[in-house]
Amino acid sequence: MEYIFSLEFIYLIASVTFILGLKMLGHPETARRGNLIAAFGMTLAILGTIILYQGEVASIIYYLIGAAILIGTIIGWGIARKVGMTKMPELVSVFNGMGGASAALIGLIEFNHYVGEQLSILTIIAGVIIGSISFSGSMIAWAKLNGTLNKPIRLPKYNILNNMMLAAILLFGVYVVVTGTDSQIYLYLIFFAALAYGVLFVLPIGGADMPVVISLLNSFTGLAAAFGGFLYGNMVMLTGGILVGSAGTILTLAMCDAMNRPLASVIFGAFGEGTVDSDATSKSVLGTIKKTTPSDAAIMLNYANKVIIVPGYGLAVAQAQHVIHELELLLEKKGVGVKYAIHPVAGRMPGHMNVLLAETNVDYDKLIEMEDINSEFQNTDAVLVVGANDVVNPAAHNDPASPIYGMPILDVENSKSIIINKRSMNPGYAGIENELFYNQKTSMLFGDAKDVLTKLVHELKNM
Ligand code: TAP
Repeated sequence: MEYIFSLEFIYLIASVTFILGLKMLGHPETARRGNLIAAFGMTLAILGTIILYQGEVASIIYYLIGAAILIGTIIGWGIARKVGMTKMPELVSVFNGMGGASAALIGLIEFNHYVGEQLSILTIIAGVIIGSISFSGSMIAWAKLNGTLNKPIRLPKYNILNNMMLAAILLFGVYVVVTGTDSQIYLYLIFFAALAYGVLFVLPIGGADMPVVISLLNSFTGLAAAFGGFLYGNMVMLTGGILVGSAGTILTLAMCDAMNRPLASVIFGAFGEGTVDSDATSKSVLGTIKKTTPSDAAIMLNYANKVIIVPGYGLAVAQAQHVIHELELLLEKKGVGVKYAIHPVAGRMPGHMNVLLAETNVDYDKLIEMEDINSEFQNTDAVLVVGANDVVNPAAHNDPASPIYGMPILDVENSKSIIINKRSMNPGYAGIENELFYNQKTSMLFGDAKDVLTKLVHELKNM
């Protein structure tokens, strides 16, 4: 019975909820519950630590902890409730940065208490370096995503500069660990240098590489928290940190895979260069575009046997997920087979399209991943692309000069006819032209996705 009320037991339960929650996050149907289960575990671990901690704690500390939790909860709850789906990566960046800052602060506060214990100092220095990089890097990522810093900034020879800085921080860290110095000046030098490195690390990265960087920073925060757990011998902190660190790393690598880019080239490469410039064209696209109207598009869809819908970022911007589901149901009722083709980096965050469509209770079996649906396009009568651009850009296959060359895309051009809905001829996230718009089989259906889809539904209902 005593064991049940012990911290070890509570930490064990919390760790199990983290693992279970993470597993459930893997599917849209269980993701919400998984998130709640893991959050419950975290609350249990926090409350358990406060209530069952054995050491001496001045009562003022409890008030401070209570106040911090209250303020944090109110701010976090308020922001999370209001945030739009398209702003989610920004929010993740800020929250992640806070985690990194907490891990670094633990190191700054605990340094004095562990002087002379080499392994603990090593843990502390590692936590300070990684946590600080994660904090400042996440803040830059946030500023870039919300448009405050909307151009990749590259100092001359930034790669050499960055690498030298990282090497200096690491060497300095080794010096502090090996000499066992108690000088706080060294500790703060490492802290500020790591903060500066985080800024320099993220500043030059741009274009479609941002989500990869955010995920990488997320894994840094996990690692920094795990160092904190190791320092305190706190199993739940260690487990949580390792889970975040490894999940972040797996996601980072999966995204690199989806874009066909080695991680090293995301960090050190020049993919971002010019990709956010809306005038940039890697290849001059000649030809004319063919426009269509909602009524003509409705006829095409009505007489198709098989339709694939390709959702992209514009669907989220227009908040057209409900009406697209209505369109899908209507077509199905008319005997048209409908599926959704989901590109792993469509939208602005991992799983963006799944989350968006899950909101409308689309049947999960209809959401088909890129590698499974690509072979189906050739047998498809009509593809309806809604607010997607880069993820269907054939330049990824055809144009070695294109910054997205080599990125796996949805092979929409193999289908018999293509309807593309967007508002203008403006480029997508990567800032490059799309030759698919000029394809003989393509009809451009201009307008806001919600308006256009509503008109399509209206036309189809009258047929
Ligand atoms: P994009 O290539 O960004 O294209 C979205 C298109 O939607 C734009 O061309 C835009 O054209 C159109 N659009 C915007 N608002 C619209 C509205 N209200 N109604 C209709 N259309 C609208 O999107 P994508 O194809 O989903 O590709 C995602 C890109 O973002 C990739 O380059 C990816 O690497 C990058 N990225 C992905 C993530 C993750 S993890 N998913 C995170 C950050 C960046 P108009 O302006 O002409 O309407």
